[in-house]
Amino acid sequence: MSDAIAKTAQKAGATAVQRCIVPACAAAFGIREQIYVCSRCGGPLEIEIPLELLKSVPDLRERWRTRAASHEARDRSGVWRFRELLPFDNDAPVVTLFEGNTPLYDAPRSAKYAGLTALRLKHQGCNPTASFKDTGMTAAVTQAKLLGARTVVCASTGNTAASLAAYAARAELQCAILLPQGQISPAKLAQSMDYGAVVCEIAGNFDDCMRLISELADVPSIYIANSINPFRIEGQKTVAFELLEHCAWCVPDHVVVPGGNMGNSSALGKGFEEMLRLGLIDRTPKISIIQAEGSAPLAHLFARLKPSEIAADAALLDEITPVAHPRTLATAIKIGAPVSWKKALRAVLRTNGNIITVTEQEIADAKAIIGRDGIGCEPASATTVAGIRRLTAAGKIHAGESVVAVLTGHVLKDPDYVSHYHRGTLSFESVTAEGTAKSVQITGAFRNAPEKVAANKEAILKNLESRR
Ligand code: F0G
Repeated sequence: MSDAIAKTAQKAGATAVQRCIVPACAAAFGIREQIYVCSRCGGPLEIEIPLELLKSVPDLRERWRTRAASHEARDRSGVWRFRELLPFDNDAPVVTLFEGNTPLYDAPRSAKYAGLTALRLKHQGCNPTASFKDTGMTAAVTQAKLLGARTVVCASTGNTAASLAAYAARAELQCAILLPQGQISPAKLAQSMDYGAVVCEIAGNFDDCMRLISELADVPSIYIANSINPFRIEGQKTVAFELLEHCAWCVPDHVVVPGGNMGNSSALGKGFEEMLRLGLIDRTPKISIIQAEGSAPLAHLFARLKPSEIAADAALLDEITPVAHPRTLATAIKIGAPVSWKKALRAVLRTNGNIITVTEQEIADAKAIIGRDGIGCEPASATTVAGIRRLTAAGKIHAGESVVAVLTGHVLKDPDYVSHYHRGTLSFESVTAEGTAKSVQITGAFRNAPEKVAANKEAILKNLESRR
């Protein structure tokens, strides 16, 4: 890169600000101010990169592609190779595990199941700690280092915790994670223990943990790494850039993601919008969010929006009604009061997408179908394929359109769920209209349980024949 171009690119990162997203406020704060929400109105913050500066930088796309073949640590990261669009100086002490650069798979069986001609799956479970959180955590923990934090903390349904624990270990920072006791997959908990985090099991749900986290926000030595932190979103937005690159810059018609605390959908929305504003694409995909039926506050809000609210950003003035007791076996998205809902809703409204729910049975079957494509994911990720199936049936996605589902976590994140599904022992505690709990059995429509087979060749061949 010539000196002048390098300086322009660096200036873009260095002159970014943190901006309140509430239009009537829009207060700006310095990029190294340790705040998580607007100190004037309490609204959510996002990073504003001065994109005009980057418009003069030639061949950004080529520059990013070439870096993928370099051996420099930042270039090997699928996040930092897009550093012109990240709010850091060129000499920032980057904390990386070489995250990103995840595969985009064709998934013919899942496509057919969902009523599509073709479907591609962007597998964010192929990140270093096996979930999409790593792309955000590299940025948040780098910012923690720059701020001189001693401890990084998060509330989590398991994946944020595992990711933060790993990046904190790399950065030699203390890490504390707040988890809802007994509601986390043991595999995710094991990761956090292994990476040396202080694991605090809280008697309550994720939303209770999140409330406690916000009480820690005023301790200067502590840095919060939940997706309320706009630096997390900066890292995660690069998935949009990488996806476009893998699609040879042909914009997919739809990108579909699961919705929990709503950081991922917010980040994708920001990433695509920045590419549009830079003129690197001429439209954005429609971003749709899928929630589990028992944990779906944003889908409920979306369903009651009027067309006039949809047309403008007016819906952002609305308030979300939290789900007091969220329920789903997809524990990653068992969240009743998502902190980033405003940003996520804005992304959906601006791109003309949808927010819908799917049932536990639909999630379970979609997960098994994704597995049949040879691609494992955790239950929360499978909401995407289940949701696409619904959207296709409703005529909101057309069979021939190009669709990408973002798989957020690896199949080994929750092996108990997989095993119970295939053995036919998966059940879900639902609540009746009268408020009483009842256990609902999930049918393993694509069950594949192990069988006892006699220890001889004939028995094995017979077994294979019977299952052709
Ligand atoms: N999928 C997986 C596997 C997740 O772990 C999460 C969130 C989501 C989807 C939803 O993403 O919150 O950005 O809307 N997990 C968080 C955690 C809450 O603590 O690990 P979101």
